[in-house]
Amino acid sequence: MNTSMSHVVDVIAGDGIGQEVTPAAVRCIDVLAVRHGFDVTWRDRPWGSDYFRKHGRMMPVDGIEQLSDGDAIFLGAVGTPDIPDVETLWGLLIPIRREFLQYINLRPVRVLPGVTSPLRADKQVDLVIVRENVEGEYSEVGGRLYRGLPEEMAVQESVFTRAGISRAAAYAVDLARSRSGRLTSATKSNGIIHTMPFWDEVVAVIAGGAGVEVDKELIDALAARVVLRPESLDVIVASNLFGDILSDLAGAVAGSIGVAPSANLNPPKDHPSMFEPVHGSAPDIAGKGVANPVGQMWAGAMMLEHLGQASAAADLTAAFETVLASGTRTRDLGGTATTEEFTSAVVAALA
Ligand code: NAD
Ligand code: IPM
Ligand code: MN
Repeated sequence: MNTSMSHVVDVIAGDGIGQEVTPAAVRCIDVLAVRHGFDVTWRDRPWGSDYFRKHGRMMPVDGIEQLSDGDAIFLGAVGTPDIPDVETLWGLLIPIRREFLQYINLRPVRVLPGVTSPLRADKQVDLVIVRENVEGEYSEVGGRLYRGLPEEMAVQESVFTRAGISRAAAYAVDLARSRSGRLTSATKSNGIIHTMPFWDEVVAVIAGGAGVEVDKELIDALAARVVLRPESLDVIVASNLFGDILSDLAGAVAGSIGVAPSANLNPPKDHPSMFEPVHGSAPDIAGKGVANPVGQMWAGAMMLEHLGQASAAADLTAAFETVLASGTRTRDLGGTATTEEFTSAVVAALA
């Protein structure tokens, strides 16, 4: 990991609106680099579904190796309606998360200034989801039998390891300690009788005596609580699938999934970490120039923080918050600004 003032970042804009929001965030970071006196070398990786159409794969055979000496990866989105998601996501996004042991997926959720939550105005939303990012329900263990026959079947095994749960829980405990001291563990140990009781046991061991107040909540009830009492939540630790679903739910509760950011972290910094918005390629609005770039910009701010550029990160967050507060908003937030208009306003706020 490079701790100097010059950073090498691989950019995978990817598919759909990834091609629109990624350049928008890169533009802001370039302005910040000049202002804060650091340097970013962007290594543009034209990987994704177009690459797949030409080469039959989502990235080159040695794609992971090419990324391995960079300081961070900045990803837009992956996925396109005419290619199965198993090809696209399991050919790019998921291998990067796994090969680089990005076992924490950090997803902060806040109602930003100028944004109206669909909830009652008096509800505060300021929470962080710590999602286990490399195992759990997203496993490759399983298979299909009797394809195409009436007897056809599919089996998909969940894989939960003590090491995997422990490191996610430990990260969440530390984060909770640095915030309110409250941690909520998402579980389903009433219906999923092997893996989820194990999750609960390991979380309890890690959190025991750590000085945080832990409550475990069944995921169904927790989903309702995110809507009804989001102010009662601070740090949530969740398995891969539960964390995924809670992220879009909490993002929507905070106004739009278009603003939600995400950091795929390899905490020991043995490998590059990856920063991306929570949302996907949004084929329904792709190419129209109306995508909200805030999720990508906020992910960019998390990346700057990770690279040791905390004051640039704070400036970027302040700039998009100022623009939102001034009433310039994209359609998903009830405004009329295009991606380009919003981005130009952020660049102007940075100047
Ligand atoms: P999505 O997040 O792409 O879109 C869901 C809805 O939210 C759509 O109506 C979309 O228009 C809207 N939306 C999303 N981002 C927005 C933004 N920045 N501004 C305004 N509106 C926005 O989810 P989906 O439709 O379920 O998935 C589309 C494709 O993306 C699929 O192939 C899916 O697998 C993939 N995907 C990829 C990632 C990723 O690369 N990290 C994440 C999620 C989904
Ligand atoms: C996310 C996405 C991915 C996930 C998909 C596209 C595989 O939804 O990053 O939230 O579930 O991890
Ligand atoms: Mn998701």
